[in-house]
Amino acid sequence: MTEIKVFCPATIANVSCGFDVLGLALESVGDFMTVRKIPEKTIRISRIVGQNLPLETEKNVSGVAGLALLAKSDYVGGFEIEIDKRIKSGSGIGSSAASSAGAVWAMNELLGKPFSKLELVEFAMQGELLASDMAHADNVAPAIYGGFALVRSYDSLDIIPLPTPAELYATVIHPQIEINTSDSRKILRTSISLAQGIQQWGNLGGLISGLYQNDYNLIGRSLHDHIFEPIRSVLIPGFDEVKTNAIEVGALGCGISGSGPSIFALSKGKHMGQRVADSMKETYSKIGVPFQVHLSKVNTQGVKKIA
Ligand code: HSE
Repeated sequence: MTEIKVFCPATIANVSCGFDVLGLALESVGDFMTVRKIPEKTIRISRIVGQNLPLETEKNVSGVAGLALLAKSDYVGGFEIEIDKRIKSGSGIGSSAASSAGAVWAMNELLGKPFSKLELVEFAMQGELLASDMAHADNVAPAIYGGFALVRSYDSLDIIPLPTPAELYATVIHPQIEINTSDSRKILRTSISLAQGIQQWGNLGGLISGLYQNDYNLIGRSLHDHIFEPIRSVLIPGFDEVKTNAIEVGALGCGISGSGPSIFALSKGKHMGQRVADSMKETYSKIGVPFQVHLSKVNTQGVKKIA
């Protein structure tokens, strides 16, 4: 195999209570990427459609992630990448992660899978470092592993794949404004109180238990973030209204997707996910900011080969 085409899923990081340590992959939103082997030991980005992003290898997240893989590989050649970007940068649904994860996953397939998923996450994190000044793994881990993924430790990376309840749906509204992850990290405080910590790790444990037990009510009870959401939500027009209305129509919970501006809600069943989508559309139509709404199952496979 010398060429592969892959689907690279969008992802929701943090999932309210898991700042920098939890994320999930989406099924119906993502980029497409074609990767082929070339004889020169380099990464060449030949074409990007859908977004105005740099083609220079060192300035492109898929380029630096690919270079990290090449540096650890004994493969004598390199790769050429074409990207069909469907996820906007600065959307909060893992645009940079999709490109970084998709690139290294595809390269690994072309090389006969010499690297583990954990190693692929480590390579892809170099793309996140370029995009947001922080090598966070809560988008690239679910993009590579699929489903929900927990980053148990960064100090010696440890990723724990988690189960996905079958009827769980994500609704995402993406207001067409851009929030740079690096900017939205700068406004956060670097210390939290003991009381805030207790609330947050209680909820994170609750959410993970809910996933294991298929307990939708427990998942809903745990989807809270009292630390980061109050600070970041001021950057998102209509956040409080969208959240209140989504929960009123029946969402299990609702919060900021990654660093925003996208807002996500989780629901039990497609019908409820659609009601939440309608509620988000109705709320946002009055705000006057253009938006896109996505309804998606959780993607339990991660990046996948499509040709
Ligand atoms: N955990 C990261 C943050 C995710 O919230 O800054 C960015 O997508």
